[in-house]
Amino acid sequence: MKLLAHILCLSLGLALALADFDIFSLLHFSFLMFKLCSHFEAVLDRCQGLEMDAVAVNEEGIPYFFKGDHLFKGFHGKAELSNESFTELDDHHHLGHVDAAFRMHYEDNLADHDHMFFFLDHKVFSYYQHKLEEGYPKNISEVFPGIPDHLDAAVECPKPECDEDSVIFFKGDDIYHYNVSTKDVDMKEFKTMPKCTSAFRFMEHYYCFHGHMFSKFDPKTGDVHGKYPKDARDYFMRCSEFGDESDHVERERCSRVHLDAITADDAGNMYAFRGHHFLRQDEGNDTLKADTIENAFKELHSEVDAVFSYENHLYMIKDEHVFVYKVGEPHTHLDGYPKPVKEELGIEGPVDAAFICEGDTAYIIKGQTIFDVDMKATPHAVTHERPISTFKRVDAAMCHRGGIKVVVGNHFYHFESPMMLSTGRLIPKQHKVSMELFGCDH
Ligand SMILES: *[C@@H]1O[C@H](CO)[C@@H](O)[C@H](O)[C@H]1NC(C)=O
Ligand SMILES: *[C@@H]1O[C@H](CO)[C@@H](O)[C@H](O)[C@H]1NC(C)=O
Ligand SMILES: *[C@@H]1O[C@H](CO)[C@@H](O)[C@H](O)[C@H]1NC(C)=O
Ligand SMILES: *[C@@H]1O[C@H](CO)[C@@H](O)[C@H](O)[C@H]1NC(C)=O
Repeated sequence: MKLLAHILCLSLGLALALADFDIFSLLHFSFLMFKLCSHFEAVLDRCQGLEMDAVAVNEEGIPYFFKGDHLFKGFHGKAELSNESFTELDDHHHLGHVDAAFRMHYEDNLADHDHMFFFLDHKVFSYYQHKLEEGYPKNISEVFPGIPDHLDAAVECPKPECDEDSVIFFKGDDIYHYNVSTKDVDMKEFKTMPKCTSAFRFMEHYYCFHGHMFSKFDPKTGDVHGKYPKDARDYFMRCSEFGDESDHVERERCSRVHLDAITADDAGNMYAFRGHHFLRQDEGNDTLKADTIENAFKELHSEVDAVFSYENHLYMIKDEHVFVYKVGEPHTHLDGYPKPVKEELGIEGPVDAAFICEGDTAYIIKGQTIFDVDMKATPHAVTHERPISTFKRVDAAMCHRGGIKVVVGNHFYHFESPMMLSTGRLIPKQHKVSMELFGCDH
């Protein structure tokens, strides 16, 4: 997009230069073009490798990445203006950026539990569900005595990950452990850790961002274990292309970006799709392989919504269409496809997830509804519809080794049957996709 804008601007400029305009219309056009082009310049693309100003998760655990006066919500999608979500950040402040942010997350500290704190110069803002708490903004020194102004980064650190419920603040080389209950400040030196421009806690892990790279650190000691720094785009953003350095298998296993779809074929081989890539794990072999969707499922190209496997075929649903591949080396796309989802499965696309267990019923999840589709009937038709109450949205689902795995964000959940998924009132035990499905070490 940015490149396109550049080319557009360049060619407009060239056209203007060559055209025989009188001086006034030339000036006028140049002015318009300047406005147009500077507007395009302002479009932020996180896949270009941005250095974020601040990162924090919201009340629902969705990460918010702040850059200048913009905000990226979640792992993909466009930037929006921060003041659309947090109006008052503008009123008291005209610098147009956030220094640091964190989410207070301590069960013992109920008054501030799940509040988001933003730091701008010497001010701190406390938000709950996107509403500014009364009395804020306040001076940092009032709310966090002993913590300096103009911070670089901040991250919450609850017990037992830190010895006490704490907030870790970063400024230059200095690290401050702030004891939430006593308001005591403990200065520490994290000798081996790079200077963080933003930091956040995600799935009980601690990440320090520096430039467009990040390092995972131990919040007590600041130690960085393992091969860091790594490129933030590989783990926290969904980009169509990655750097030459990117190890596709490692990235796809450990990425924090949610899966698009997952399935296991008749032989038990598992396929997990995300963006332009997929991971494959063959039955009886722990080794994971990564490939591009373009390479193995050319007609589909990328970014599938749901995949299920039936009678040695992969049914791959993308937007309004179903693509059907016969499983093999290579997979072959059936003639006559893609077909509209409505025609093939009797449901309006797009859908969120799909799976088949034993038998001939495909379960298609769309929002908070599961549709049973009879694959033996011609044409395939919806025979039953049931609600899901436990999740607002499902990313992917599959039936594998006798049970259903439902993937929501970075976690998956086991259900014994589609009925349980529909009627269950309690969310079962959480499992981590990266660790427990793909054997990533964090
Ligand atoms: C939000 O920020 C933009 C850019 O900084 C500004 O133009 C706009 O007026 C602001 N909107 C509000 C409601 O403050
Ligand atoms: C907040 O800080 C400003 C600037 O340092 C100072 O003038 C002001 O008195 C402080 N306000 C309070 C309530 O402490
Ligand atoms: C933090 O507060 C707790 C509870 O009062 C106290 O026991 C602990 O020693 C404090 N820790 C630090 C590092 O000050
Ligand atoms: C598992 O798969 C890898 C990668 O394709 C292959 O090199 C290896 O030989 C396989 N191992 C077994 C036991 O089949």
